[in-house]
Amino acid sequence: MKKPLKQISSDKTTTRPIGIFDSGIGGVTVLKEIIKILPHEEYIYYSDSANNPYGDKQDKEIIKLCENIVKLFIERNCKAIVIACNTASAKAVKYLRKKYPNMIFIAIEPAYKMVHDYAYNEPTLVMATKGTIKSEKFNLLFHKYNNHKTYLLPCVGLADLIENGNKEELEKYLKKTLGLYKGLVKNVVLGCTHYPLIQKEIRQVLGNDIKFFNGANRLAIHLKEVLSEQNLLNNNIEEDNKEKIEFMDSSGKKEKQERFYKLLNG
Ligand code: DGL
Repeated sequence: MKKPLKQISSDKTTTRPIGIFDSGIGGVTVLKEIIKILPHEEYIYYSDSANNPYGDKQDKEIIKLCENIVKLFIERNCKAIVIACNTASAKAVKYLRKKYPNMIFIAIEPAYKMVHDYAYNEPTLVMATKGTIKSEKFNLLFHKYNNHKTYLLPCVGLADLIENGNKEELEKYLKKTLGLYKGLVKNVVLGCTHYPLIQKEIRQVLGNDIKFFNGANRLAIHLKEVLSEQNLLNNNIEEDNKEKIEFMDSSGKKEKQERFYKLLNG
């Protein structure tokens, strides 16, 4: 198991970390993709599990929660912040970019454009939280790339089930909510960062030939481009200088940390 860092110095001459957050541990699916592209950076991952799920919360409340995390990352001298939560991106990134113009924000969104680019003609299911599906940000994206063969499915409570790891409940939920799309769709957009953790279970209901679309890899490439443009990449790329990851969780529950590192290394 990787040990959390005790302290990342705020001295500007040392490596500045990248802050990454989600309403829980789902954002680990994004961090894993980022590490593949940027293996020599330091990361602080913040899981707001005392306040999850975000999916059913009012915009104002989500913005406030996100801003508190952003303030913490700024105190820790982060050079960029990754919003590894589709719901938080949809509701808060516009506000945060305006309020903190000097900070780099990279925000995940459902990979619906990818469907347009690679599988335009195929029937598609977009799975996301109710908050994401109803958001202005997602609706702009959806109408821009609409293939008129798309079903939008707000998966109320699903992120919570994944967060809590109850397999039986999860399988029951998926059978009930996805069953009617079996044979109807070929593409599934994983529009919540928790959902890549249950691809196997989704396949069990929708079939093995389903294609998944997930924006995490593109986000990671974009993050690298932005850091490179601003000369902010960590250039200390000695072989033994592998990524360093500190985990923080607002609930303070020990099992969150254990599960996070297990998922990260799995
Ligand atoms: N991982 C978050 C997302 O991508 C889950 C949101 C929630 O907490 O409901 O939307």
